[in-house]
Amino acid sequence: MTTGQHALSDPHDEGFGLYVHWPFCVSKCPYCDFNSHVAERIEQRAWHDAYLAELSHFAALTPGRALTSIFFGGGTPSLMDPATAQAVIAAAKTHWRVGDDLEITLEANPGTVDAVRFAGFRDAGVNRLSMGVQSLNESDLRFLGRKHSVDEARQAWRSAARIFPRVSFDLIYTRPGQTVASWRGELAEALNEVRENNISHLSLYQLTMEDGTAMAADYALKKFSLPDEDTASDLFEITNDLCAAAGFPAYEISNHAKPGDECRHNLIYWRGGDYVGIGPGAHGRLTLQTGAVATRQIKAPALWLKRVNADGHGAQETEVLNTAARAEELLMMGLRLTEGVNAARFERLTGLGLPKVLNAQNLADLQARGFVSFDNGRLKATPSGRLALNEVLRQLLRT
Ligand SMILES: C[S@@+](CC[C@H](N)C(=O)[O-])C[C@H]1O[C@@H](n2cnc3c(N)ncnc32)[C@H](O)[C@@H]1O
Ligand code: SF4
Repeated sequence: MTTGQHALSDPHDEGFGLYVHWPFCVSKCPYCDFNSHVAERIEQRAWHDAYLAELSHFAALTPGRALTSIFFGGGTPSLMDPATAQAVIAAAKTHWRVGDDLEITLEANPGTVDAVRFAGFRDAGVNRLSMGVQSLNESDLRFLGRKHSVDEARQAWRSAARIFPRVSFDLIYTRPGQTVASWRGELAEALNEVRENNISHLSLYQLTMEDGTAMAADYALKKFSLPDEDTASDLFEITNDLCAAAGFPAYEISNHAKPGDECRHNLIYWRGGDYVGIGPGAHGRLTLQTGAVATRQIKAPALWLKRVNADGHGAQETEVLNTAARAEELLMMGLRLTEGVNAARFERLTGLGLPKVLNAQNLADLQARGFVSFDNGRLKATPSGRLALNEVLRQLLRT
């Protein structure tokens, strides 16, 4: 762990994060079902004020906590006024204790609109940039509805790497027509860029058809087809192999990093830690004196803004999480990680012994078939187990 960590002694070693959702993009990508919208006009000042108001609301519920990360996600939060990011960061530092190693991530799109603002975000305190590159192939960028070229993306990540101490980029694979050979070449090129620019993290997602998106509608109409299941699992396998060989082992199903450069904010989610979520549609998980709750903010941007102006927060729902729901969520999130689920942490967070929650017969069967392991107090899914995670979970939790 990095410096300052022990100054933040906190009973929750999973960390404590702040997620800030910015719901706007320059254009809507056809595959994307994130809460992202194209707006003609954005009242930057109104957003600034609303974030600060909702932040105060949640800070009052979580006094004395030690904040370990802030994540500006979206949408495309690099379209936010950097002064807003700066104000949120400054306010967070007054609400909670922070160390000198606070991780502050901003998601960005490689469009030039975003790149010219990078220095402003760095000055605001952002120390990690995560960029949606998606593909290093022009025709696939068009298929994905991206507005930037490969060259613009390259310029953007190179300039990001000069400005921010930590940079990550996203690629989407398992695209129509993609073969093991073509992906191998593209990923090798990406890893080369990563090495040359001292980039320390890669998110590599398999393309999924999300209900309600334009791409899912075209897929249903058979306008294109996707690689079959065998090819998809080969693509997943070579992704893990090539990244590991390049010094970027998978620490989560879709995330690869140089050891020590994992995204600390996302680790909070996967390890079952607490986080405040502000902005339209943001989710949060908080341990209050009354127990664990899941929070969810109003999704529609205009409505959220209106409600925050009126009430100081835009809560849609605060759900009390019972022990069974908490246990299931911890397994679902934790098994995504290469490190798996720590049985001692599981017991601390749920009050339940991990072996007691699992179906013993199915566990033995999944172990024998090489889908999971349970040694030294850790339940882990193997790479093939992670590829079939929903089924593995169903078996583990079957009563
Ligand atoms: C909020 S976006 C990242 C930042 C920025 N909005 C962008 O797209 O450049 C989060 C990431 O999720 C991934 N993603 C979104 N929808 C996906 C889908 N249907 N299948 C696979 N990956 C997806 C993309 O790689 C995208 O970069
Ligand atoms: S992928 Fe990123 S840029 Fe595209 S619509 Fe989704 S959030 Fe916006």
